[in-house]
Order: sequence, then structure tokens, then C-alpha cells
Amino acid sequence: MGHEEASPYSLLDICLSFLTTHLEKFCSARQDGTLCLQEPGVFPQEVADRLLQTMAVHGLLNDGTVGIFRGNQMRLKRACIRKAKISAVAFRKAFCHHKLVELDATGVNADITITDIISGLGSNKWIQQNLQCLVLNSLTLSLEDPYERCFRQLSGLRALSITNVLFYNEDLAEVASLPRLESLDISNTSVTDITALLACKERLKSLTMHHLKCLKMTTTQILDVVRELRLLSHLDISDDKQFTSDIALRLLEQQDILPNLVSLDVSGRKHVTDKAVEAFIQQRPSMQFVGLLATDAGYSEFLTGEGHLKVSGEANETQIAEALKRYSERAFFVREALFHLFSLTHVMEKTKPEILKLVVTGMRNHPMNLPVQLAASACVFNLTKQDLAAGMPVRLLADVTHLLLKAMEHFPNHQQLQKNCLLSLCSDRILQDVPFNRQVIGLTLAQADLEFTVQSQGGLELMQLLQIVKQKTNQNSVDTTLKFTLSALWNLTDESPTTCRHFIENQGLELFMRVLESFPTESSIQQKVLGLLNNIAEVQELHSELMWKDFIDHISSLLHSVEVEVSYFAAGIIAHLISRGEQAWTLSRSQRNSLLDDLHSAILKWPTPECEMVAYRCAPPRPAAPLPPLRASLSWSLSASRYCSMLIEEGGLQHLYNIKEHQQTDPHVQQIAVAILDSLEKHIVRHGRPPPCTKHAQARLN
Ligand SMILES: *[C@@H]1O[C@H](CO)[C@@H](O)[C@H](O)[C@H]1NC(C)=O
Ligand SMILES: *[C@@H]1O[C@H](CO)[C@@H](O)[C@H](O)[C@H]1NC(C)=O
Ligand SMILES: *[C@@H]1O[C@H](CO)[C@@H](O)[C@H](O)[C@H]1NC(C)=O
Ligand SMILES: *[C@@H]1O[C@H](CO)[C@@H](O)[C@H](O)[C@H]1NC(C)=O
Repeated sequence: MGHEEASPYSLLDICLSFLTTHLEKFCSARQDGTLCLQEPGVFPQEVADRLLQTMAVHGLLNDGTVGIFRGNQMRLKRACIRKAKISAVAFRKAFCHHKLVELDATGVNADITITDIISGLGSNKWIQQNLQCLVLNSLTLSLEDPYERCFRQLSGLRALSITNVLFYNEDLAEVASLPRLESLDISNTSVTDITALLACKERLKSLTMHHLKCLKMTTTQILDVVRELRLLSHLDISDDKQFTSDIALRLLEQQDILPNLVSLDVSGRKHVTDKAVEAFIQQRPSMQFVGLLATDAGYSEFLTGEGHLKVSGEANETQIAEALKRYSERAFFVREALFHLFSLTHVMEKTKPEILKLVVTGMRNHPMNLPVQLAASACVFNLTKQDLAAGMPVRLLADVTHLLLKAMEHFPNHQQLQKNCLLSLCSDRILQDVPFNRQVIGLTLAQADLEFTVQSQGGLELMQLLQIVKQKTNQNSVDTTLKFTLSALWNLTDESPTTCRHFIENQGLELFMRVLESFPTESSIQQKVLGLLNNIAEVQELHSELMWKDFIDHISSLLHSVEVEVSYFAAGIIAHLISRGEQAWTLSRSQRNSLLDDLHSAILKWPTPECEMVAYRCAPPRPAAPLPPLRASLSWSLSASRYCSMLIEEGGLQHLYNIKEHQQTDPHVQQIAVAILDSLEKHIVRHGRPPPCTKHAQARLN
């Protein structure tokens, strides 16, 4: 695991993603408004299945789009229509003529009921006999008469999963009479009595009854039924509410029960002990899995989960990972596992992409569940902190970034969540590498499209961050959220012309001027705002956007801020505009000169810099420059070491020596140059000299 993220997307995935997101371009509309593919020819069945699945993952299935599956151009076999928003009519027209072997209709909503789906499928003789696997979890519409359901028609069915819906004893009786049924999941349904299962005791191999909340049987009655299901190899009687029922312990104590069992899940059940679990497993040496999350068990040597016997639980990382893997659809268990994972992260010293990936899955499956998002964002922060982020595949980090932003969007007023997410987003690796992940993807063919995706994603996160700034400014509140958001924006725009352009296009400049006006005494805010504006000013093509008088007046007033860092950044912006923007310059010569004077006098008030504090990145001073270091591009940063290396790599030493030796250099500037050289020399002693200039760096200098 984890390797998948480290390699490029497959060509098929890229094509399907493209087709999915640009569907209109490949389709025409029928009279009824549904889509119809224009390309002639038939899709191979595997590709058609994958296309449908991709559309489902992107949340693009609706009455219009599923139109492309009508007719014979597509042949579906294993259909996934998760979360489709479709009507009964659209479902029937698009899917019920295919030779379906599997259908996953989890979370399908809008105007469609379970009865609609079953009778649609039952209208096709082939499907009646050959549909093997049907998933009807979490369907939302329940306005239907359960007596009209005809599961009986689907005589080929081997596996049925029907969870989180109103499914009653009568339904269970009908399902249990299906002649081929081997696997059944009735978790969180309205079943009160499982006696009906006796009808399939000669067939049933897998039974999942997680959180069967309405069950009205005694432990003895339940065990009497379970005892009869002698073929069972998998039994799940887990629960989230830690009900006081002693069913788990009683089951574990049975000597002769369930001889073929290889997998037992009692997570979330009370009264489970290591001793009982061990005794049960020792009688069944072929056991492969036992679920013990949120029980008191799982701590003995026997149950570490390292070997042949997998264990989900909270005792160590192996058990927690197993829990996240198995229970990704169960919010309560996901939260529980993440909670324990978090307490383990402080001892983690290695990068763990496979663990982060599991966190991502949990986050993705429960976007609206605050406890899950809180726990997940905390884990993400710890798992991607500093060095740990270095080994994470960029694609995984891109997923993380996307989900963190979604969480922030869904819970805009939850301080802790916002903070967790922003802290994670501010990781250097995420900020520096994620927006540039097109460099990692080697497929030229996909380049254009990926670049587009990457850029529009950048635009999206930027917009969300700007939204937070706007909200906080309107509320006139300076808090950690605002500060972190500004930092994140500052870092996102660092050396990213695309993001800078997005910033301008989304009225970021106007917003940031409002921020400056709203918090005139908050230097920590000013510093971040100016830091970002400085990044914008580094992008030559955006200079004209900055050339308005109010903007320049405001920035030049900040040149004289008592906070020297604010002054540094203000100077950086002005210097950029003066040095590079001559053609775009719209102010008069006298205004320009007075700005230069301002700049000069501000600089003379600065203390002598230490490399630890501030470093300069200088392009070569051209001859006859009025102010040598300013004439060049100036860039200011508090991250000393990075810029020291950069300065040396790009041949800055020589330029600084030139400035130092230059006859006409202002004495104060000379003093600054000496101070920087001093710091650079210290840096070289400490970190060694970076490799000599590359061709690339040379080209940028000349
Ligand atoms: C159980 O199913 C109901 C719908 O019948 C749903 O609202 C609820 O969230 C589900 N509970 C869990 C714990 O999944
Ligand atoms: C799980 O716990 C056992 C002992 O309790 C230990 O030997 C094993 O290394 C642990 N595994 C991990 C991944 O921590
Ligand atoms: C993870 O979070 C905990 C709790 O805040 C903290 O004590 C620990 O140092 C963090 N670990 C890492 C690796 O950041
Ligand atoms: C922004 O980036 C700088 C330099 O890369 C780093 O020192 C700083 O901590 C980052 N800010 C945040 C909030 O992460």
C-alpha cells in the first residue's frame, strides 16, 4: 500500500476522469434532456463498468448523465451507482436491460425506493436468474410498503447487503428463502427477530448484524439461532453503543458452536475478555480474524494481530490499522480508531503513507461527521509533520489537502477543526509540493489536463481560504484562525505565479486592503498580508494589477512602521514595482522619485540584519543603478537557512562582494552587505557550501 499513490495515474483512469468531467463535450441531448454519447462504437464491458464507477465517485450520476448507459453502446456487468441522484424511471431505462451480475446502489437517493430498484431488476429475466450480488445500503427514501418488495424474484442472488434502511422481519423471511443466498448483511435495520434465518441455514456462510438496534430476543434465543447456522465462516455481532448485552461473552464461551468460523467480530461489545477470546480461538485454529475494537480485550501477546490472526482493536498500530481498514464505513468505529491512532502518533518516527491513506479513507467516507473529521485532522497533522511529510507521495498529500479543505468548508465555525486543518495545510511539504504535483507525473499525454486540474484545485482552496479571511474581517476578529489562514495564503502564493493570479482574479487584493484597513495596529496581521503582497509583486505580469494609487499609498505608509518586519515587506513590494515595472508605471516621475526617497529613508532606519532574521536575494546590480541592492529584485523572508542557501547557489556572494567594493555604494547599504556576507559565511561553516550553480540558475541570472 502507498505505492499506488507514488506512481502516476493509469492512462485509463486519466481518460475516464477526463471523459467524466467533460461529458457534455462528448454527448448530445435527447428530447427528454438525457445525455447520449456521440461517438459510435461499443465500449468494452470492463471500461463501461469503470466509467460508471468513475462517474459515481465524482458524484455525477443523475437522470441526465445516466442516459449514456441506455441502449447497447455500453455493456455493464458490475454496476456501481453509489450516491446516484436518480428517479425510478431513469434507473430502469439506463440499467435494467444490462446483463448485471452485481449492483452497488449504496446511498442512491432522490425519487427511488428499494421496491423500485428490485422491481426494475426483476423486470429482466436474465437479471432475475444471474444477479449475484446486490448492495442496497443507506437508501434514503423510505415511503414504501414493505409488502410490495419482491426479493423473491432475484433467485440468483448470493450476496445481499441491506444496511441502514427500514428492512423488517417480513423482508428477512423473504430473503432467507432465496435458494442461493450465502452472504447477508442486515446491519442497522429494523429486524426484531432473526429466527427467519433458519430457512437458509444450509447455505448461509456470512452473516453481518452490526448494530441490530431493534432486536427483541434474549441472548439465549439469539444463540439458539446462531448455533444452527453451522456453515457460517463469518459472523459479525458488533455494536457501537456498547449495549450491556452479554451476547459476545456468552458466544465466546460456547464450546461446540460455529465449527467453521474463521472470522468473528464482537467490536463494541461489553464483557469481552482476552481469556475468553483466546479460548475460543484455540478451539478453532483456522480463525483468521477477530474484531475487538472498543472492547476491553486485545491486549494479550496472543492477540497482537501480527501473524496469521488479524485483530482489529486499539492495543497497537497493527490493530488500529486493521480497524480503519475494516470499518471505514462505520463512523463510530472510525472515530474510535482515529482517536487511538492519534495517541500513538507521538511515538511514530517513520513516515507512514499506508496509515495516512487509511485516515484519508475514513475522512472521505464521513465528510459530515464532526468527531471523525476532528480526529482525522489531528492525525493528519501529526502524520505529516516536518520530516514525516517528506516520504509521503504527493498524490496522497493532494487527497489530504482536498479533504482538509472540504472539512473546513463543512464546519466553518468550529475553531478547533479549522485550526487542525490549517495547521496541516501549512506544512512545508504540502505548501511547496502539492500545488506542483504535475512535475511528478511523467505522462506527457495527460500533462495539459492534469495541469488544469491542479490549477483549478489551487483556485478552489485559495477561494476557501479567502472566504475565511473575508468572514473574519467582517466580524472584525483577530484570532488564530485568521492568522493561520493568512500564513497559509502567504505560503501558497510563494513562488507560485498561478496561485498569485488566482488571488488577483478572486478579488484578493481588494480584500487584503480591507484587512489592512480593519486591523491597523496588528503588526502580525500586517506582516502576513504584506508577505503575500510581496509574493504577488514578484510576478511581473501582475504588476499592472498593483498599480493603483490607494494601494501604493497604503503600502508606502507602512514603510515607516515601527515594526521593522512590516517595513521590510513594504519595501520589498515597492522595490519590485519600481525596479521591474517601468513600462507599467503610471505614476508621474516626481511621484516615483518621492517613493524612492521614502524607500531609502526607511531602509536607513533598519537595524543591521542577521541572517537568522532576514536575508536578501539579489539579482545582479546593473551599472549606474541608483540604489544597487534595490534596483535588483529584493525578496525578504524570515526563513533564513533556505534563503541563505539559495543566495549562495545563485551566485549571490559575488554580487554582495561587488556591492561591498563598489565606490558609489551608500555607506549604510555597504554595511548591510558586509553583515549579510558575514552571516553567509557563518551559514557555510554550519551547513557546508551548496553545490555549484546549475545551468538553470545561471540562465536565470543572465
Ligand atoms: C441507522 O440507519 C438509520 C436509517 O435507517 C440512519 O439514519 C442512522 O444513521 C443509522 N445509524 C448508524 C449508526 O449508521
Ligand atoms: C503490537 O504489540 C505487540 C506486543 O503487544 C508488539 O510485539 C508489536 O510489535 C506491536 N506492533 C506494532 C506495529 O506496534
Ligand atoms: C502528536 O500529537 C501529540 C499531542 O498533541 C503531541 O504530543 C506529539 O508530540 C505529536 N507528535 C508528532 C510526531 O508530532
Ligand atoms: C510558511 O513558509 C515559511 C517558509 O517556508 C515557514 O517558515 C513558515 O512556517 C510557513 N508558515 C506556516 C504557517 O506554516
